[in-house]
Amino acid sequence: MIKRIGVLTSGGDAPGMNAAIRAIVLTGAAHNIDVIGFRHGFNGLLEQDYQTLLPQHVQHIIQHGGTVLKSARCKALHSDAGAQQAADALHNLALDALIIIGGDGSFRGALAIAAHYRGQIIGVPGTIDNDVDGTDYTIGFATAIDTALDAIDKIRDTADAFERIFLVELMGRHSGYITLSAGIAAGAEQIICPEFGRLDDLNSLLTPIQHAQLLRGKSSYIIVVAENSYPGGTTALAEALCAELGIECRACILGHIQRGGSPVGADRILATKLGAFAVEQLVQGAHLVMAGEVSQRAVLYPLAQTGDKKKQIDPYLVRWQQYIASD
Ligand code: F6P
Repeated sequence: MIKRIGVLTSGGDAPGMNAAIRAIVLTGAAHNIDVIGFRHGFNGLLEQDYQTLLPQHVQHIIQHGGTVLKSARCKALHSDAGAQQAADALHNLALDALIIIGGDGSFRGALAIAAHYRGQIIGVPGTIDNDVDGTDYTIGFATAIDTALDAIDKIRDTADAFERIFLVELMGRHSGYITLSAGIAAGAEQIICPEFGRLDDLNSLLTPIQHAQLLRGKSSYIIVVAENSYPGGTTALAEALCAELGIECRACILGHIQRGGSPVGADRILATKLGAFAVEQLVQGAHLVMAGEVSQRAVLYPLAQTGDKKKQIDPYLVRWQQYIASD
């Protein structure tokens, strides 16, 4: 029987993590389960840096970005000794279960701990990248798209005024989810992301630009670029386009702004549902699974498979964007 659980947020913070923490605490309280929160991700576990979380502690946090528990990446968990130490801490604190809110890297840390831990472990997908298998969307993704979109719309204004070409770099680590979604929603002229294949030939970018200029004259032109698409980053890409092809363009790296801000409604709702579901499923005996949502249904998915990279960015939009851009 579950009496006491721990929760932590790990890896890149994502808007909606606070909503998930709140749902976990409220659901725990409704089941007479004590909840403690570890600070700074797995580091809090190793250093026994934690606080008891009562419903009054999670009042009015649903609308805030970031995470009240703080987050971090934890190198110590890459070693077996670190995983053992974390499991020992869970045993010492008499925790029946641990909930990890994070991405697939954090879930790998959880699996390492599981090799030494007698309790239950469950994941809740929280990352702006949406690169976790077993759930249609991760907590934070919807907000990140809107944040990126707001920025790109503003860049469009200045690009229009100067009739300039802009390269806007978006986050996503090695996934093009944010880039494709924000690029489509912003009406970007071109989208570059890992799923479109390697960017070997700069001329492939030039032809559509020339074509657009032929059709509509000089005007603003926005290319959204997923981070890690070009060696040296998007600033290097802008320089190469200028040096090799004579295209004058500006690079804008949106960066961590995409991780912040008040979560949009969709993220608050998803986080609430998955946080609550995680606790309910722990009570039912769930272990080594992630609480995800597929076609609006809360589902469990093996934690070990969340990083298999089977989930694909929308093939319909990929195909459409590719033929529109090359037209
Ligand atoms: O995973 C979330 C994310 O924001 C990625 O999109 C990005 O590649 C990475 O984290 C940045 O990490 P850091 O904040 O450690 O620089």
